Amino acid sequence: MAERIRVLLTEQEVDARIQAIGEQISRDYEGRQVHLICVLKGGSFFMCELAKRISVPVSLDFMSVSSYGKDTKSSGVVKIVKDLDESVKGKDVIVVEDIVDSGRTLSYLLDLLRDRGPASLRLCTLLDKPDRRVVDVPVDYTGFQIPDEFVVGYGLDYAQKYRNLPYIGVVEFDE
Ligand code: IMP
Ligand code: MG
Repeated sequence: MAERIRVLLTEQEVDARIQAIGEQISRDYEGRQVHLICVLKGGSFFMCELAKRISVPVSLDFMSVSSYGKDTKSSGVVKIVKDLDESVKGKDVIVVEDIVDSGRTLSYLLDLLRDRGPASLRLCTLLDKPDRRVVDVPVDYTGFQIPDEFVVGYGLDYAQKYRNLPYIGVVEFDE
């Protein structure tokens, strides 16, 4: 089955939105330091672009959890593949994700991080598909709300492809 990519959000639109979120976070955390936690691999492109646009001091860490594999539906199974290098205790943490879909991954991750005693814990996602939510997750910073379509680019993949697209596109399948 071949697939085509239709542009949903252009590179300019995504960049402008990330700039705005960076400015917002810089205002919200004035006088403090933010500890960004990237959820690999999808969140990596977004986190790098976002971190460059935050003017307060920033530290970074990375975590990897199991996701869809080649399927486009959530299995509901969340497994930590790579844990953080540093403790989050007493830090002002922002989890940076590519997309919140069913909410299962983030709900699990936020509970786990909260138990480790950060000073504060917020969630920032580039994309949000609210129509698909199964578990309620409080999102503090959202790039774009998008319809229920499978998207790629800016870190998001389909079977590990298309992460490097500098825009967000919808995957369309030719039967
Ligand atoms: P959730 O647990 O259902 O919210 O799914 C979260 C993860 O599923 C995201 O971090 C992505 O890795 C993946 N995912 C969900 N929707 C999409 C999509 O449209 N394109 C690519 N990956 C997706
Ligand atoms: Mg992800």
